[in-house]
Amino acid sequence: MIVAIDGPSGTGKSSTSKAVAAKLGLSYLDTGAQYRAITWWMLTNGIDVDDAAAVADAAGKPVIVSGTDPSHPTITVDGVDASGPIRTQEVTAKVSAVSAVPEVRARITGLQRSIAAAAPHGIVVEGRDIGTTVLPDADLKIFLTASPEARAARRAGELKGADVSATRDALIKRDTADSTRKTSPLAKAEDAVEVDTTELTLQQVVECVVTLVEEKR
Ligand code: C5P
Repeated sequence: MIVAIDGPSGTGKSSTSKAVAAKLGLSYLDTGAQYRAITWWMLTNGIDVDDAAAVADAAGKPVIVSGTDPSHPTITVDGVDASGPIRTQEVTAKVSAVSAVPEVRARITGLQRSIAAAAPHGIVVEGRDIGTTVLPDADLKIFLTASPEARAARRAGELKGADVSATRDALIKRDTADSTRKTSPLAKAEDAVEVDTTELTLQQVVECVVTLVEEKR
């Protein structure tokens, strides 16, 4: 059972994906964390992330390993735990530039496909291009949406005390970059089920997705 969950930032992809995977005994992969990890490695190794050629040259260098237990997802870069550093504002501000570089996408997409193929009971993979590009044959594709206000309020809540309107602007900027890039932009697959989470609780979204998975089994 391969479940692809795509959508813009702040729609509840991570919380939903982890809860669905835990409930159904599936593995879980956060593909955004992989793009964040490669961005963090570039920043800490002095690569100019606004120079696409330099990013392309370095794309194959870091060793990125994702742990796929939904109750304890992990990410290491060259053997170092990167789960904290990949969430900094600096990485968040630069990740769209790095993830737009085709060599980066080719590298990370390869990793994602091998992780999905090795999952013993199936996997929930969350991202931006999972249903369209990474796993186009997924058994179920979900596209989560929510109003920009709801997304900004959720993200600002996670960042404890962050300004909602600044968070909204940053989020819209990142989504625009992600959906307008040339190589596998953020997009809803034609056969994806769209779920608007604006008025739903996390539990309601999880129940909705679990029901859709069970219908496919
Ligand atoms: O999901 P998260 O906000 O952590 O993703 C960080 C960034 O990684 C996105 O803004 C996007 O630039 C990139 N990304 C991507 N393709 C994916 C997942 C994430 O380009 N499948």
